[in-house]
This record gives sequence, C-alpha cells and structure tokens, in this order.
Amino acid sequence: MKHEKDWYKELVIYQIYPRSFKDGNGDGIGDLKGMTQKLDYLKELGVTAVWMSPVYASPNVDNGYDISDYFAIMEEFGTMEDWEEFRDGAHARGIAIIMDLVLNHSSDLHRWFMESRKSRDNEFSDYYIWRDPAADGKAPNGWLSVFGGGAWEYVPERGQYYLHFFAKEQPDLNWDNEEAREKIFDIIRFWNDKGVDGYRVDAISYLDKGMDGRADMTEPFGTTSCANLEGTHKYIREMVEKTTRPDNLMTVGEVNIRNLQDAKDYTSASRGEFDMAIGFVPPIVEIKTWSPERFKKEVREYYEALKEDGWWARFLSNHDKPRQVSLYGDDKTYWLESAKMLGCYLHTLPGTPFVYQGEELGMTNIQLPSIDDYDDIDTKNYYKTMVEEGASPKEALAESQAVSRDNARTPMQWDDSENGGFSPSRPWLPVNENYVRINARQQMADENSVFKFYQKLIALRKENPVLVHGDFELCCPEEGPVIAYTRSFDGVTWLAAHNFSGGTQRLACGRVKREAQVILGNYKEQAIEEGILELRAYETVILKVE
Ligand code: GLC
Repeated sequence: MKHEKDWYKELVIYQIYPRSFKDGNGDGIGDLKGMTQKLDYLKELGVTAVWMSPVYASPNVDNGYDISDYFAIMEEFGTMEDWEEFRDGAHARGIAIIMDLVLNHSSDLHRWFMESRKSRDNEFSDYYIWRDPAADGKAPNGWLSVFGGGAWEYVPERGQYYLHFFAKEQPDLNWDNEEAREKIFDIIRFWNDKGVDGYRVDAISYLDKGMDGRADMTEPFGTTSCANLEGTHKYIREMVEKTTRPDNLMTVGEVNIRNLQDAKDYTSASRGEFDMAIGFVPPIVEIKTWSPERFKKEVREYYEALKEDGWWARFLSNHDKPRQVSLYGDDKTYWLESAKMLGCYLHTLPGTPFVYQGEELGMTNIQLPSIDDYDDIDTKNYYKTMVEEGASPKEALAESQAVSRDNARTPMQWDDSENGGFSPSRPWLPVNENYVRINARQQMADENSVFKFYQKLIALRKENPVLVHGDFELCCPEEGPVIAYTRSFDGVTWLAAHNFSGGTQRLACGRVKREAQVILGNYKEQAIEEGILELRAYETVILKVE
C-alpha cells in the first residue's frame, strides 16, 4: 500500500487479539488462518486497518508481549505463509496492517537474553540493563514491577541483577546501547519489507531509565520513576526517522501520559515522534476514577492542546481493559442502548477511532468462578497481592473479576453454536455464556443491532470529512452525564449528544434547531425542541445543525 502524508487520520482501526479472534485449525486457540477467514466480516463492518496484538514467537508468559523471536510467527498462530496470506487478503480488501512492536523488553528466552545472562563480556552482555547488587547484596534499587514484586532479578552466572519493568520473563532491553538499537531497528525494517503499513508500539515511555539520578526515586514503580525522560524521546525520534517516516508508515505509541505536555511531546508532528498516542491507565484506576465529567474535561483539554500540531488515538476498549459496555455503559437493562451510545461517542470525537474486537457486538465482562479459571498474569498477581495484604479470598476474587484483562480476552462470539463458533474444541479461555444472545451472526441479520450501528458509524466517518477534520467544541454543562459537542468543517456543523446515564436528561443548547436533520440515533424518534434536546436512557444522537 502507498501512504499519503496524514493518511492515518482517516482510518478506522480494528484491534484483533489473535488468541481470541477465530480458531482456524481447531485447537482451541485463535490463529492467523482464523483471522483470514474473517476478513470478509471486517470488510463488511467497514474498518480500514487492523492492528493485531503480537503474533511473533513467544513463550506466552504475557500472551505474546514477551517475544522470543521477532522474525518468526508463534507456532500456535501458524506460519509466516499464514501471515502473508492474511496480509494479502487484507490489502486486497483495502485494509491496512498494523503490527504490535514490543521493544521495551524481550522474552527471557530470546537468544539475546540467553547469551546476555551468561557472562559480563559476551556479544550481547550489554543488550539488557544489568547492575551489581547493592552493598547489602539486595537489588540495586527498590523499583517495583508492574505485574507485582520487585523489578530486579538476580542471575548467579553474572553475579548481577537485570531489570524487568513487567514480568521477570520480560527483561528490559538496553536502548543506550547503540548496537542493540540498530538491531532493534532491523526488526522494524524486516517487517517494513514485508509490507506492514504501521505499528502500535508497546510500553515505550521507559527506554531511558534515568538511573544516573535523573529518575524520580520517590516513586516506587520504575515505570513511574523514569517515564518520559528526554532520552526516551530522543530514541523514539531516531527510530521513527530511521524506520517508519520515510514511507509515512503509521505509528501509535502506547505511552504514559501524565499531562498535556506529555501528549504534545509524543504526538506533535513537528517533533517527529508518533502520529498519535494511546495513554495507558491501569484498569483499577480507570474503574475508580472515570466519569462523564472527567471525559468532558479531558476531551476538551486534549483537543485544545493537540489541535494545531498533534492527533488523537480514540479508544474505549483494548486487550488491557474491561469491556466498555460493562465499564462505561449498562450491560443489563440498557445494554443495547449503551453499547450503541459508546460507539457513537467513539466515532464522533476528533481523532482516529480504535475498535476492539467484540465491542461492535456489545460484548460484556465475564465473572469466572475461581481465580484458577483466569489466565492473565496481571490478574493472578493482583489476586495474590490482595490476599497477602489481608483481603479475604472472596473480596480478592470480586475485585480481580472487575479489573481482569481477561474480560476483554474471552473468545469472539461468532454465532450461537458450541463455543460461540470460535472453535470446535474447548477454547483456551471460556467463552462468555451470553454468546447465545450476543453473537455476530444474529447481529448481522438484525437491522437494529450494535453491529449494524457500528457499520453505519464507520460509513458516516468515511463519507463525511466533518467527522475526520471538523473542529470540536463542547456544548453541554461541565456537570452531569450528558456529553455533547459540535464538529464543524467547510460550512457543515454536526452536533453529537450522548447520555451517559439511565435517566432522562434535558440538554439546553442554542445550536439545537427543531428542524435539524437527524443523521443517526439509537432511539426510533428524537425529542427535539428549539434549543432543547431530551435524551432518554443512554440515548445518543447526531444532528446536522448547519
Ligand atoms: C502493554 C500491553 C500489555 C502488556 C504490557 C507489557 O501495556 O498492552 O498487554 O502486558 O505492555 O508488554
């Protein structure tokens, strides 16, 4: 595919979590063949790019985010030929391919690390972050890892500790080593040559560890201490300049955004870093702190901060978060209304929308009966820590169920046959029991479904530049559960309004005209008066007001 400058602004990106998308060989695990089988489904939905979570060789301690060979495909997912077949099938349908690059760390079974750990003076000894023990023999500092426990692991062969911000099987690569950097860039060049159109770059805020005193050591987590240091920005610019920019390949960084300046630093075009950024917020924090008020404030502030020179990645879901309809909507009484409302919110905001597999069906959270039924390393560690800190097993399970990344990782619900049509065998993670009611086959045949609503939203975005390029202005009170805004471009103004509550709300806004044309809504008729829009439970509506 050829890429014009700024082409990423027009995309609608669909995230596939390959393990859970579609099993093509009947072993209970999703794979590339399964993904190829479902390309027509993606085409019908209308998305224009697919970001696949990692498909490289991996021992799967963190489901592919621990890579042991960046040039090979994970056996469970198939072969390089399978990947090529998917690529060709996607490109033939006008769908761009976005690969997930995990470059902060590799697997401990990567050849570089297996060599590196052997001695202090071998070809790869400086490819990772090694430090001598502290005077008392303990770890060099008190940093904690994201998945629980300390961030340092001792290796007797070297008599040293290595750093791992994530699991101990995910050692951090040493970006200060120029040779290692070049080897890392070779990975990207390899995939560029294979026709990849862009990259989602995993956990990339921590390349410069700042251990010479620049990292803030009052923070217990290494990922907080050294987030966003200048060296990290420098390495990102070098990477982009040498690998993706020459061909305008799309880049989205998964980064630690603490404030508006961070967002600007990562996404301002003039700085030459990423096209857009996905800010990482731990699920437990998101569950406790989200509110429509916060959404409004952030959307407005980030719009203002980035409108001149940056761009926004828009998402409500991904493989690290609970299901959006369970988190921000109502997955019971107003399941249908709220699943559609969230989709409309996502597609009408300024920025490039990211749809996570299954949200177009309104898939919901699960509650597995025991912690042993969960797969996610983060969930298991979370549970263990809670119990160690005194929580009862019942409490710990309830909280783990709510935050678990497995909520988003249950298999896609394709139809109402056994295992939801995902696989003829017992799937690696249970299928949500509601597959009989919530599945793709049913929704593709139902004009009133979440799927059909997403299809309309995606088509609207393709046909109406106002949704891609339109200016943004909030037109609702700061308080309360209604989020409403206008998008204006080239003499056209659309107003989108969303009720994030189960009660009726009245929005007073001068832009609302009695004769306004309804572009899309999730209720049959709209209650529009001059200057007033009445929104029922989780109602969403797009009006053309100019
Ligand atoms: C990112 C990924 C997450 C993974 C972590 C470590 O946050 O999205 O799934 O566990 O990085 O690679």
